[in-house]
Formats: sequence, C-alpha cells, structure tokens
Amino acid sequence: MRTQPIVQSLLMLALLAPVAPVPAAEKDPETGFIVAEGWETVRNSCTACHSAKLVTQNSGSRNRWLELIRWMQATQGLWQFDAATEKTILDYLSTQYGSKEGARRPPLPRALLPDNPYKPKLTSS
Ligand code: HEC
Repeated sequence: MRTQPIVQSLLMLALLAPVAPVPAAEKDPETGFIVAEGWETVRNSCTACHSAKLVTQNSGSRNRWLELIRWMQATQGLWQFDAATEKTILDYLSTQYGSKEGARRPPLPRALLPDNPYKPKLTSS
C-alpha cells in the first residue's frame, strides 16, 4: 500500500512537532531571575543577604511568599517594604515562581488529623 504524499508530509509534521523548540523564559545571566515585570525590584530587594538562587529554587503560592517575607522581617532583619513594592514583589514571585503543578500539598496540621489508633491514649484508664 502506498500512502499519499500529502499524508506522508502530514505524518512527518506530526513527528516533528514535539521537537519544535519551546522558547525558554529569558533569564538574567547574573542572578538567574526570570526577566518579567517586576524582576528588577525583586533583584534589588532580595539579593542583599543571600544568593538569588535561594529565591529562584523556591516556589509557592502568593501566601507562602508573603509568609516567607514576614518571617524574614520578623527574624532575619529584612526591612519593611511599602505597599506598592510589596505588591510588585508578590506579583512577580507568585507568577514566575508560583506553586508547582503536581507539587505535593503541604502536610495537614496535627489538629486536623485523626487520632492514631495504634498509639495508646494517655488519658485512658
Ligand atoms: C535582610 C536580609 C534578607 C533579605 C533582604 C532577604 N532575605 Fe531571604 N533570607 C534571609 C535569611 C537570613 C535567610 C535564611 C538563610 C539560611 O537559612 O541560610 C533567608 C531565607 C530565604 C529563603 C529560604 C527559606 C527557606 O525556607 O529555606 C527564601 C526563599 C528567601 N529568603 C527569599 C527572599 C525573598 C523573596 C526576598 C526579597 C523579598 C528576600 N529573601 C530578602 C535574609 C534576607
């Protein structure tokens, strides 16, 4: 059996399609930050104390990033940002370094877990 040339070329195209290069996000060669809206603000705010890598290797929801910032402000000497700067930072981080698809959800807090049936209760007689 002979396939039509047009069918052949369509098959070739289908085979080639997945190999077509996907444009990678442009990254700042110096810090590795993805170049997108707000990245310079994040570079200026987030690389004074530690490597940009500590930021770029992390990911999380907007809330997780906010918690991290509050934690650094409370314990690591991170200064306060004005509202506009903080919004720029959170927009950038939650968009470019947001929760990963298929990431495991964080563990449930102890209070939401059922009692372990194999552990003897301290309160039982
Ligand atoms: C005033 C200093 C300072 C600045 C500025 C700063 N951080 Fe940090 N950050 C720290 C310190 C200290 C740690 C703990 C480092 C360690 O554990 O080795 C840390 C840790 C982290 C971590 C890792 C947390 C973990 O769970 O391991 C991330 C992510 C992070 N910072 C992101 C940021 C972002 C985003 C910014 C900008 C908004 C920022 N940092 C700006 C001091 C700072």
